[in-house]
Amino acid sequence: MDPIRRAAEMLRGVHRVVVVTGAGVSAESGVPTFREGQSGIWDRHDVRRLATPEAFRRHPGLVSRWYDERRRDVLLCQPNPAHRALATWEHRLRSAGGQFTVLTQNVDRLHQRAGNGDVVELHGSLHTWRCTVTGRERRDLPLPLPQYPMPSEAGGLYRPGVVWFGEDLPEPAMRRSFQTLAACDAVLSIGTSALVYPAAGFVELAQSRSVVAIEINLEPTPVSELVDISMLGRAGELVPRLVEAIYGAG
Ligand code: OAD
Repeated sequence: MDPIRRAAEMLRGVHRVVVVTGAGVSAESGVPTFREGQSGIWDRHDVRRLATPEAFRRHPGLVSRWYDERRRDVLLCQPNPAHRALATWEHRLRSAGGQFTVLTQNVDRLHQRAGNGDVVELHGSLHTWRCTVTGRERRDLPLPLPQYPMPSEAGGLYRPGVVWFGEDLPEPAMRRSFQTLAACDAVLSIGTSALVYPAAGFVELAQSRSVVAIEINLEPTPVSELVDISMLGRAGELVPRLVEAIYGAG
């Protein structure tokens, strides 16, 4: 049987779904991934140098401008068929009394723009700026920012609301992730290289309770061996086919 139909059969009866997503889900919207050939962000910009607390301390203007440009770039991108199919799935499952949570490593808000209502942003958001003095977060700062770096009312700076190398993930996001993983009936890993922890360990964590586990990715990853079905291909093609196979075309 073809893997989509097999996966759909396994997923049809489940009520609580957790989907772990990475940059591969947004690739077809035009947002670059992190670790791939020519199109990866790391080949075009030295993200490792910019995405650290030290870089912001030393060059706050440069780092703020770079993130503000990424904020502008992702607003010009649109959710793709993978995002939209995940939103449809959430809608269908919730109307039937189920739960559907997206645990995303992406900072682009494309899941929310597609219509997903329960999205945990593990690595923060490009659309949030945080005061370095009070920790207050703002989503309403103008685009582009009027100056780089942007002073905050409390006498500090607004820093990008993303998680940098060497920083802990937001505590509420971690708590929600573990709660949903502990209670789900199915876990999917979509468009992530599954190399960066803690998200890389989420499938294994859920799998310790023998839930249904499915992966969709362009290439095999460390979780491919753990899941029931690993489907290789584009998320923008496979996710809509999977959701359609679960619910039928109508
Ligand atoms: P990566 O760039 O590491 O991996 C993207 C994965 O998506 C790869 O395995 C690709 O094969 C796959 N992929 C690419 N295009 C795809 C498509 N159209 N359909 C399906 N799969 C596709 O991105 P992440 O796993 O998200 O963290 O990286 C995790 C974290 O690493 C990022 O959030 C970032 C980085 O360090 C921080 O910045 C804190």
